[in-house]
Amino acid sequence: MLHVAVVGSGPSGCYTAQNLVQQDPEVRVDVLDRLPCPYGLVRYGVAPDHEKIKSLQNNLRTVLEHERVRFLGGVPVGPGGVPAARLRELYHAVVYCVGAATDRHLGIPGEDLPGSWSATEFVSWYSAHPDSAADGFVIGARSAVVIGVGNVAVDVTRMLARGLAELSPTDMPQAALTALAASQVSEVHMVGRRGPSQARFTTKELRELGALPGTEVAVDPAELALDPAYVDPSGLPAAQRRNVEVLRGWAESGAQQPAPHRIRLRFFLRPVELLADAGRVGAVRFERTAPDGRGGVTGTGVFEEIEAQLVLRSVGYRGVPLEGLPFDPASGTVPNVAGRVLREGAVAPGEYVAGWIKRGPTGVIGTNRPCAKETVTSLLEDAPLLVHEDLPGDPLEALRAEGIRPVQWAGWQAIERAEAELGASLGRGVVKLPDWESLLMAARSTAP
Ligand SMILES: Cc1cc2nc3c(=O)[nH]c(=O)nc-3n(C[C@H](O)[C@H](O)[C@H](O)COP(=O)(O)OP(=O)(O)OC[C@H]3O[C@@H](n4cnc5c(N)ncnc54)[C@H](O)[C@@H]3O)c2cc1C
Ligand SMILES: NC(=O)c1ccc[n+]([C@@H]2O[C@H](COP(=O)([O-])OP(=O)(O)OC[C@H]3O[C@@H](n4cnc5c(N)ncnc54)[C@H](OP(=O)(O)O)[C@@H]3O)[C@@H](O)[C@H]2O)c1
Repeated sequence: MLHVAVVGSGPSGCYTAQNLVQQDPEVRVDVLDRLPCPYGLVRYGVAPDHEKIKSLQNNLRTVLEHERVRFLGGVPVGPGGVPAARLRELYHAVVYCVGAATDRHLGIPGEDLPGSWSATEFVSWYSAHPDSAADGFVIGARSAVVIGVGNVAVDVTRMLARGLAELSPTDMPQAALTALAASQVSEVHMVGRRGPSQARFTTKELRELGALPGTEVAVDPAELALDPAYVDPSGLPAAQRRNVEVLRGWAESGAQQPAPHRIRLRFFLRPVELLADAGRVGAVRFERTAPDGRGGVTGTGVFEEIEAQLVLRSVGYRGVPLEGLPFDPASGTVPNVAGRVLREGAVAPGEYVAGWIKRGPTGVIGTNRPCAKETVTSLLEDAPLLVHEDLPGDPLEALRAEGIRPVQWAGWQAIERAEAELGASLGRGVVKLPDWESLLMAARSTAP
């Protein structure tokens, strides 16, 4: 009987476990996560006001509740936890589904000024990630600049424009709700370095900005027209054409009623420096760019400053190396062939990857399903070689003997109950516990 460890309980980890139990009637799967809570970015990334997408947690739950799957939370793999080499001794195979935990950097002066944050930090805060140490994002800010025009940029822009009535029914932590409700940020500039036809956001998410209560969306028709594909979108793929048409609608509708919040979508501006004002960020300096005819842009030598006391850098995520696993720093991924980990160019038997650590940090939740399937196909092809290895017994017993106390499913359910109770006490629905201490206290209240 094959015993597999899946490291990471986000979409790719859950889909890997699901494929394994569906395709092999005997396999047993332990899904380990460094956090006591499952679901990865579905819990700690997907915006709280996207309840429908959040509810995908219920689909992932059925995987983790499968009789041949065990959830082992609070177990980091790597330094301070279970070394990768030890995991290989305990299981026939290990599938790393650890995602891309950090953010890309801009590499421009002023990037680290107080008031400049990665979107990752902001998302972690409003998602109650227990590692989130920062707060005070919106304190003293009137104008915000969001750098990047992907879906994460749209998420953080939308969260800055939402009011108490819309945020209160979400599971966002109370402190973030209170801070966002008191926010004085009235202007959010979301800025792309290339043209509107090259923006990475999807049309559904873009349109949603136009439907926000009390929010005006502004675009400058002359700026959009710098993009030849905006002027003549006939050659664009359907998704980009739809984006362009939404923007054209806003451009043609002209000035809207003044509203408490204003979102300005800007294009062809690349950030060159964050400028300080009294020791913190006060503005972002951009260079106007122009299309180079090959999908890129060139600088024009014309500069513009946008006032901002809050800057959110939303320029993509990045995988982090896991000690004991090979890593390609250029792509931020683990080198692999169809999910099989490559060590110095050769396949490492029994080690696999799926999800963002395999492909890089792009793709929606559903993209991880075929990705996990490919990896599981590789693993099951290798299974006859792997099951010949004798295991030392139940890995959970071995981990316990080494002093590790995983949060099992009952512990996670206790966290869920504590979050429902917290919400009820605040007159809200479920409200997330925001720190390690309260999560572990809840988990240990019933777990063995
Ligand atoms: C801010 C944000 C919002 C998003 N919103 C949407 C959306 O609305 N709709 C949509 O379809 N897609 C959305 N996506 C994309 C989607 O979240 C990803 O496609 C998906 O989560 C990637 O899955 P993954 O399993 O590879 O990684 P993750 O979801 O990041 O899961 C990785 C898991 O591995 C665990 N882990 C990491 N390191 C270790 C370790 N050393 N030991 C043990 N465990 C470890 C982590 O704790 C985590 O639980 C969003 C992405 C982001 C960043
Ligand atoms: N609702 C949803 O479905 C949802 C929500 C959130 C996230 N997601 C998914 O999660 C994935 C990650 O999203 P993401 O927004 O983090 O990444 P992304 O889609 O890759 O967007 C990154 C953005 O940053 C810009 N950028 C990169 N480097 C830059 C630099 N040095 N200066 C200025 N701009 C720079 C990019 O511009 P260039 O194009 O010019 O490089 C792009 O606009 C995506 O696949 C996304 O669709 C989905």
